Amino acid sequence: MSVSPLATAQTIMKTFKVLPTVPAAASRAIQLLNESDVDMGEVADILLSDQVMAARVIRIVNSPLYKLLQEIDSVRQALIYLGPQRVFEIILTSCFLELTDSQSRSPLNMQHCWEHAFGVGLVAKKLASFSDTIPLDQAYIAGILHDIGEVILSQQRRDEFTRVLVLARERELDLHQAEMEVFGTSHAEVGGLLAEQWRFPEVYIDVIKHHHGHQPETMSPLTHLIHISDQICLNVGFCCKYESAEQREGEVYGVDMLELERQLAGLGVKRLSDFRSSLAELVQQVKQTVDSIYG
Ligand SMILES: [Fe+2]
Ligand SMILES: [Fe+2]
Repeated sequence: MSVSPLATAQTIMKTFKVLPTVPAAASRAIQLLNESDVDMGEVADILLSDQVMAARVIRIVNSPLYKLLQEIDSVRQALIYLGPQRVFEIILTSCFLELTDSQSRSPLNMQHCWEHAFGVGLVAKKLASFSDTIPLDQAYIAGILHDIGEVILSQQRRDEFTRVLVLARERELDLHQAEMEVFGTSHAEVGGLLAEQWRFPEVYIDVIKHHHGHQPETMSPLTHLIHISDQICLNVGFCCKYESAEQREGEVYGVDMLELERQLAGLGVKRLSDFRSSLAELVQQVKQTVDSIYG
């Protein structure tokens, strides 16, 4: 009898030496985001209670992403200039950075992973801005978090994940397909189980679990949006399976943009020509921001 990918993911997670945690501050911030009244004071206290996180927030605030006219050097100043919504985004961004910072323990190039996650977040947010139904903040956060299982799986099962990368390159598979061949499960199942353990809101758990589904029409609107943004990002070169930028150069994914645009129209995303013309700038923004964080 064949074992389901979910059952395999549960077995794999039992072999993890240390169960990865997200910083308590990030976890609290994700929960706060789902409440209707955001308490600014509480956000500030959360941020100030974690010095590493506060330092990262300052670094991101001063990156080209926010294009501020003056240097920000305290969390309180950041809160005043950017408001709670942007600060939430930054907390989440910090949370992902925290996980990817331990890069020596993963065969993945973490700068590429980070570009991918950040790219999907920004593309999804841009697309959501052309729809009336998908909240911008959820789109960004879902983009940042969608492949969190990949980071963890690659850190925890390094040797097998190295085989995943070799297989993906040799047979021109995407990482999800190569993981299924090597592990019998994928980062989607592992990430979904972790997100449940971290008590992420259901909307994000759904995205993490189902963004590689084969039937986009059965996905929730947010998961479908991330599924599409994921492919757009692969198409512009934000992919994680190569060690160096040179190897990654010239990778062609053959993504059917017309089909994606048909699906976006079905999701209620309008002004696709505006999106198309903003994409090059978005790609530049992602590259500059990631360079400034990693540089
Ligand atoms: Fe994925
Ligand atoms: Fe992805």
